[in-house]
Amino acid sequence: MNTPQSVKIVEVGPRDGLQNEPQPIDAADKIALVNALSEAGLQVIEAGSFVNPKWVPQMAGSEAVFEGITRKPGVRYAALTPNLKGYERAIAVGASEVAIFAAASEAFSQKNINCSISESIERFAPIMDAAKAANIPVRGYVSCVAGCPYEGDVAPAKVAEVATQLYAAGCYEISLGDTIGTGTPASIEAVINACAVHLPMEKLALHAHDTYGQALANIYRAIQLGVRVFDSSVAGLGGCPYAKGASGNVATEDLVYLLNGLGMSHGVDLNRLAQAGQAICAQLGRHSQSKVARALAAKCT
Ligand code: HMG
Ligand code: MG
Repeated sequence: MNTPQSVKIVEVGPRDGLQNEPQPIDAADKIALVNALSEAGLQVIEAGSFVNPKWVPQMAGSEAVFEGITRKPGVRYAALTPNLKGYERAIAVGASEVAIFAAASEAFSQKNINCSISESIERFAPIMDAAKAANIPVRGYVSCVAGCPYEGDVAPAKVAEVATQLYAAGCYEISLGDTIGTGTPASIEAVINACAVHLPMEKLALHAHDTYGQALANIYRAIQLGVRVFDSSVAGLGGCPYAKGASGNVATEDLVYLLNGLGMSHGVDLNRLAQAGQAICAQLGRHSQSKVARALAAKCT
């Protein structure tokens, strides 16, 4: 349980960050990233997904990642799973928890998981049953909470409806995904308020992509409203293969810096985190998307 001054960070870099990378990344490099993140103090790490490898080839080797990581006591290694097959693959390699993902937009649901929103909720039922029997926590994502790449505006009431369905199905936490990063503090507030009518605030998380540079402002507004769980990606890696032009999540380094400034606890060592980000960026041959990481690196040169 988070206190008013503590925040849970869900690090999604190894999954949301890397899933969109066109270049092959060795399992060894993914494993090194996950280990560096746990050593930096992150306690929940989404280490991969178990989706159809034809849809997202980069995640095809997630078994090797889960099998190769050094598990740090207390750290939860989460997996994204679209159906029972994905759930079974994830559990076979020791995922500590799984996440299911629905959308608040019909068009995005079709493009991302090849079914309607209501079909997706039905498809998740066997996962929920199996997870309940095995005592595996299930997290739920709702995508496109502040806009859809295909449909445009999305009504907060629709987001709240899908979030409520996932919660009623047994998800312990609902992560509100601003998949294309179009949200602003005002629209994110409307979404959070719509969901908070039906769900306890402590069950809500914000999953902010930073495409329009609004992620930190949105997170700050969400903190003011009482949200205490935030998803982020080291070095701001990533994007969604089914949301063209969407950039990565808010960088974990930037989130941690914000939380430090607010005097909120989170358990992450910023310098070690920045080193983890530098290492994966060097591996990928790209610059970090984190302004904080870039500023820290400049101080060291
Ligand atoms: P489908 O093609 O409709 O599935 O895909 P199907 O059930 O008809 O099966 C087709 C084939 O896929 C079969 O193989 C299955 O065995 C195989 P075949 O008989 O042709 O050889 N298959 C699988 N193989 C391995 N693992 C599995 C699996 N499932 C089926 N789990 C499906 C439906 C949902 C599987 C597909 O659409 C899919 O994998 N989609 C995932 C897309 C994805 O990963 N998107 C990115 C993640 S979501 C995201 O980034 C948003 C988020 O970050 C929040 C936010 O930002 O908003 C979470
Ligand atoms: Mg995402």
